[in-house]
Amino acid sequence: MHDFIFRDNELHCENVPVSRIARKVGTPFYLYSHHTLVDHLTKIQKAFAPVKPLVCFAMKANGNLAVIKTLLKNGAGVDIVSGGELKKALFLKTDPKKIVFASVGKTEDEIAAAIKAGILLFNVESLPELEEINRVAQKLKKRTQVALRVNPDVEAPTHQFITTGSLKNKFGIDLSTAEKIFEAQKTFPYVRINGLHIHIGSQLVSKEPFLNALLKVLEFIERLKARGTRLEYLDIGGGLGIIYNDEQPQTAQEYATAVLPLLTRTGLKIIMEPGRFIVGNAGIFVTQVLFIKDNGYKKFVIVDGGMNDLIRPSLYHAYHEIVPLARKEDAKKFRVDVVGPVCESGDFFAKDRDIPVVEKGEFLAVMSAGAYGYAMASNYNARPRVPEVMVQGDKFSVVKRRENFQDLIRGERIPSFLK
Ligand code: LLP
Repeated sequence: MHDFIFRDNELHCENVPVSRIARKVGTPFYLYSHHTLVDHLTKIQKAFAPVKPLVCFAMKANGNLAVIKTLLKNGAGVDIVSGGELKKALFLKTDPKKIVFASVGKTEDEIAAAIKAGILLFNVESLPELEEINRVAQKLKKRTQVALRVNPDVEAPTHQFITTGSLKNKFGIDLSTAEKIFEAQKTFPYVRINGLHIHIGSQLVSKEPFLNALLKVLEFIERLKARGTRLEYLDIGGGLGIIYNDEQPQTAQEYATAVLPLLTRTGLKIIMEPGRFIVGNAGIFVTQVLFIKDNGYKKFVIVDGGMNDLIRPSLYHAYHEIVPLARKEDAKKFRVDVVGPVCESGDFFAKDRDIPVVEKGEFLAVMSAGAYGYAMASNYNARPRVPEVMVQGDKFSVVKRRENFQDLIRGERIPSFLK
């Protein structure tokens, strides 16, 4: 469920016709529904209420301050993966005890900043990283807390670029190394190893991979218990899939019903890190048709947005539904590639797609673009990043302005030998 719906043949976001925003703000732009964001967060909180989880929004999915603030105000914490995300979280006055920090490559500066901020825990992805955290904590004379991100070595059926829970991937610590780390706990006096973390992949639509991973982790927890190792936290990561096309993903409630018995059995405090589930369908990307081109072999709908704005189709061949903002009764369809202006053949939003016949000047919505959309945008081809807009009820607000030429050259300088 989301709040992008057709009323009187016009796509609305909550109570605002999207075309009104397009005329006011110009295209392309990202548009978020405040209500959908809150609703999706609430769905997870309610479904998992029996274990009162700390829901840490995976900021990498959408780093917009207004989006994050919306979630913080509704009880979320954040899952961060860099010093930049830490700074953003602290800028928004996130309670440090609601911040968890994952990443296979944390630098000394990032580790030090997170220890100083007093985050809840680091999700540690290797033995050398643990040694480094211990060393930095010692230097700062401040103990810190970690969970070991274990790699349960399960296959998760999703795009190969976004699966993370098998030993073929760089993520997490294999179980036998993890066990050795617990045995050697005393060699890390500045680090309290107080939990386990798993994240096995993204856009997972069925519960099986989650269950397989959890069962392995449960077994591991039992082994640790038998040795007298007590833990406090289990972070079950993110990964919940959403509807882009014809997927039938489990609902938050179905996911909860499947895993709650296992989670309760651990007796541990539960942390979750959903990203896509919360923001994916809470956002769309709006673009305008520049030209229709027919080369005798194929038709192309050329739009003003490109792969630099939304790279998911190019990078993962991801499907995003594309709809005109104005729906015409009995509209004929044509088979087209919807492409951007960027100088790459990979610059497309859809290939060989049947969409309603559209003309130059019409607005299109690329649906389900709230997660890993703006967050992965770039300035490729010297294209300014587009604005982000948020709707609440019948109001809308630009929550990030369109970049301008000054933004494009910010930080650059011509050296004296070229003057
Ligand atoms: N926790 C960790 C440690 C993660 O690495 C991720 C995502 C999440 C949580 C959130 O996962 P989610 O709930 O959003 O599935 N750019 C790709 C997705 C990359 C996911 C990276 N990690 C895409 O556009 O599909």
